[in-house]
Amino acid sequence: MRLDPDELSTDEYRRNPTAVWKQMRDEHPLFHDPNTDVWWLTRYQDVVDVFADHETYSASTYELSTGQVIGPTLISRDDYGHVVRRKIVAPDFVGNRLAGYGQMISDCATDLVDKFASDGEVDLVRQFSARLPVDVISAMLGMEGEGDLFRQWVTDMIMGLSGSPELRVKGLEAKEAFCSHIAPALQNVDDPQRMDHIAKIARAEVEGHRLDEEEITAFCGLLFIAGGETTDKAIANMWWNLLRQPDLFDEVLANPALWDNAFSEMMRHTPPVTSEDRFTTAPVEWYGTEIPVGARVRISMGSAHRDESVFANPDQFDLHRSDLHLTKELRSGAGAEEGRSGHLGFGVGKHFCIGYELARTEAIVGSKLITERCADIAIKKGSDPYPVIVGNAFQAVHQLELTFTPVADLSK
Ligand code: HEM
Repeated sequence: MRLDPDELSTDEYRRNPTAVWKQMRDEHPLFHDPNTDVWWLTRYQDVVDVFADHETYSASTYELSTGQVIGPTLISRDDYGHVVRRKIVAPDFVGNRLAGYGQMISDCATDLVDKFASDGEVDLVRQFSARLPVDVISAMLGMEGEGDLFRQWVTDMIMGLSGSPELRVKGLEAKEAFCSHIAPALQNVDDPQRMDHIAKIARAEVEGHRLDEEEITAFCGLLFIAGGETTDKAIANMWWNLLRQPDLFDEVLANPALWDNAFSEMMRHTPPVTSEDRFTTAPVEWYGTEIPVGARVRISMGSAHRDESVFANPDQFDLHRSDLHLTKELRSGAGAEEGRSGHLGFGVGKHFCIGYELARTEAIVGSKLITERCADIAIKKGSDPYPVIVGNAFQAVHQLELTFTPVADLSK
């Protein structure tokens, strides 16, 4: 039976997209949605192949989204300029340099946990997961404790794209406030005492290229947009998956090393980002149909992760899967070199997520802190959270109300 494109805008799809994705994979591996003029590819290998071919599938789609909010950044570039900029900004987010921010990440999480640890109940989304990533980025930029300010500006900037004239004005005001707030931090970047991320990327020179002030400000904006809501939703989805199967949660409590597995399996089973869009730079043929040049192609990682030809029992959240490269992200996605499949939740290839290790660290450090201070954690009776698709590409539980028994903070 032909898939009705209207199904993509139903509440049922937003609440449970897997049936539609399966129908696409099985019956319409290339699906054209006439309502939006978007071409969907949903099979695992097809998603990997599009990600990997940045010459035919351009990330310039971002010029119409983040580019409108914060200006041009590396995420929308396909050229060598992308490589140079990435070499400047990315090193701070991995390995030893990221480890240098470890205490800061833990402090940000502790501040949040302190605020609810004696209450016996918490909305994990509103009081924790929506706050931690923005607090951390703000602190990394050298503006500790200013997460609330940035959260509001970034929300207003994104809402400014919704089409409403009032929200557009509010969005432009927020952008101005955001830029003015960053401006002083762009001064005195050569001060060797300064070890914040802004100073580091302003000082960095790669192949004779340095970022100018506009690029630095735009990149700071990108960090909040790319690293805020995504990590928020990752933490919430991970907890939702564990708490709705209390045996799994108990297993993780007994063996905290399994938080790593829980994070990886969440990225596969309930990824916060379910798809990415590209523009074709030439006509391409898929399954006997030609996609014209300049068309919008949507690659669905959410669907690829449920591809039965890659993952056994794909709908099951399994902490011990042998068919997922657990605890480590595979940049190449397919994992062909190691004979193991990876989740594609951080993308693949050129634009592979810069913050993949930071997101995992925040989720795990934060979650461990919560379990040290809160016992008997359970989903509040009567609340029935479930993840929904938000916009085109996000998936998350909106609210995660939990009850728990406070544990005395022995460090005080
Ligand atoms: C679990 C949380 C996260 C998810 C699910 C996620 C997802 C993604 C995905 C799918 C891409 C590839 C985009 C594409 O190919 O079109 C990406 C790129 C990117 N992410 Fe993340 N991300 C997360 C956390 C973060 C964090 C914490 C940061 C902040 C450092 C960050 C910064 C970026 C940047 C700057 C890019 C663009 C890289 C480039 O163009 O080379 N992300 N992310």
